[in-house]
Amino acid sequence: RTGGTDEAKRRAGERAAEEVEDGFVVGLGTGSTTAHAIRAIGEAVENGLEVRGIPTSFQSRQLALEVGIPLTSLDAVSSVDLAIDGADQVVDTGDGTEQVLDRSDAGDGDLIKGGGAAHTREKLVDAAADRFVVVADPSKLVDRLEGPVPLEVIPDAHTVVADAICELGGDSTLRAAECKDGPVVTDNGNLVLDCSFGPLEDPERLASRLASIPGVVEHGLFVGRTDAAYVGTESGVEVREY
Ligand code: A5P
Repeated sequence: RTGGTDEAKRRAGERAAEEVEDGFVVGLGTGSTTAHAIRAIGEAVENGLEVRGIPTSFQSRQLALEVGIPLTSLDAVSSVDLAIDGADQVVDTGDGTEQVLDRSDAGDGDLIKGGGAAHTREKLVDAAADRFVVVADPSKLVDRLEGPVPLEVIPDAHTVVADAICELGGDSTLRAAECKDGPVVTDNGNLVLDCSFGPLEDPERLASRLASIPGVVEHGLFVGRTDAAYVGTESGVEVREY
């Protein structure tokens, strides 16, 4: 799920971290690109910046603790100023220059997330933020979302949800763990079904259909939620405001 170079990811993450201001509550996303932002925020904290972070996964919590970012939780704050998070696919039909796009035209900024099985908490925190910025490398940019779309499902429900995906014309695979026999188990104790539907004609419609299947905790489609993307390249960062 990570096609870009670490250098490109670092540039994107560090640039996004520059948006963090004194006093901010910041959503800390999950994944290898966001990890660079978390490290950069940790460095700023060491130099006196006062922030509180809300991690979106066990992984981002561990890293935030390691780099010294004071943590809080969604139920302990009245607002989240900024969320920084990665993505598996980002719709971006622009030409790489700084721009303001009308997402109603092209779905620019729509995302698929959940490659790290953390999309439920990510969506919760990202949606709560006043501003949500995505950090990515160019390998994530697509003209149209294509899936697979991860679904976090209650363990008992995985077969009935798989049947429901078939009825929607898709195929699903229970995500297997790499280092143990058996499935991936999320931070919430659930399973992940990766669902393929081919190129997505209408992500918003699919999102509401997936959300209505009993047993689905959350799907990895983030439609109309992104405010900006920082796309790291080998030589710089392309800024997209959506
Ligand atoms: C976690 O569940 C995902 O949504 C990640 O944010 C996404 O997979 C991006 O990860 P990388 O930055 O490692 O590609």
